[in-house]
Amino acid sequence: MLTLNHQLDLIRQSATVGMNDRVLELKASGRQIISLQVGDPDFATPQSVMDVALNVMKDGLTHYSPSRGFPDLRRAVATKLTRDEGLAYDPQSEILITHGGIHAYYTAMQSILNPGDDVLIPDPTWATHANMAIMLRGNVIRVPAPAENDFIPFFESWEKALTPKTKVIVLNYPSNPTGAYPTREYLEKLQDFAAANDLWIVSDEVYGSLYYAEKPTSAAAIDGARPRTLIVNSLSKTYAMTGWRVGYLAAPPQVIENALKAGQNSITCVAPFIQKAAAFALTDAAVQRVAAQMRTVYARRRELVSRIAREFESDKVLAAPPMGAFYFFLDFRPLKMTSSEICERILEEAGVALVPGSAFGAQGEGFARMTIAASDENVEIGFRKILEWAEHLKRSFENG
Ligand SMILES: Cc1ncc(COP(=O)(O)O)c(C=O)c1O
Repeated sequence: MLTLNHQLDLIRQSATVGMNDRVLELKASGRQIISLQVGDPDFATPQSVMDVALNVMKDGLTHYSPSRGFPDLRRAVATKLTRDEGLAYDPQSEILITHGGIHAYYTAMQSILNPGDDVLIPDPTWATHANMAIMLRGNVIRVPAPAENDFIPFFESWEKALTPKTKVIVLNYPSNPTGAYPTREYLEKLQDFAAANDLWIVSDEVYGSLYYAEKPTSAAAIDGARPRTLIVNSLSKTYAMTGWRVGYLAAPPQVIENALKAGQNSITCVAPFIQKAAAFALTDAAVQRVAAQMRTVYARRRELVSRIAREFESDKVLAAPPMGAFYFFLDFRPLKMTSSEICERILEEAGVALVPGSAFGAQGEGFARMTIAASDENVEIGFRKILEWAEHLKRSFENG
């Protein structure tokens, strides 16, 4: 009998992709839907970055390229890590160019995980953090990051989740879906905990440049953390380059050697013209200014949502503004419905697409993720429709 990989039975289809499909279906039937479910910047990739790719393509850079990544791109990544995080990485031995952040995460986990190792992953977080560990036959232990503690795990929760088989802690700050990130002191304590228990730290920092409060600290910037920390990052969110599929892993040399094997045997290399454009994007001064302008727009939309929430007097309950990334994690718990029901009803009755909070873990139940990486108009109209829907529902509860 032909059998399939049972490990994949443990994984659900991506809720975001599922919601996208539903939206396309509804739009095809003539419904007007406001899409606030995707985590994809609504900006175009900067023109100068596109020009670099087009020009080098015309020059013939359309063949295989070094699987570690071009040296100039690895140097650009090292420059970025020094410029933004004060970290010194050797471009030759400590950086691998990957097919987006997701592939950086794959190569990171593939490099260190053995079947049956326990992996500590906060809940809620991006579904791939757990799914990838499961695909690699790791044993995922979720560490609650409750709303009551601003979506950061209570420190005791890490200690409680620890087992003799724990191998790695996965962090993602600023977080998708909550935007939360911890203080430096918290990361210092976590580093001590990791050191005391011989744990790796895989730190997904793809939203690292999107923050609205004090700059988040990279997990690798904590004293003593470098030898156990693997930084996962990409150009997708910072430079509106989600479709280009380019990212990187920065880690100790022995990890990079393993990650290189994982990369060579999964993608061979990242397309050369994309690598050249990425090197330009990471270092060109004018591109950094464009990225900063995008951040200003997200910050303005975050204010816009907060202002509308105050107008409806639902700022405290429903829409606490995120510290980073470009999502609001809307709190619908008072409605006492599942996130899936909430999102289904908001889609059907208000015509707005969101992602159910439960897609990010059990702690996300009762919440829904709304992106502000959409036009000002869509964010404003969509959010108003959501609040009107919630008010209407509340009134119908009150009237019995
Ligand atoms: C937390 C997090 N990490 C990684 C990724 C993947 O990034 P990339 O598109 O560069 O693969 C995403 C994409 O949504 C994300 O939200």
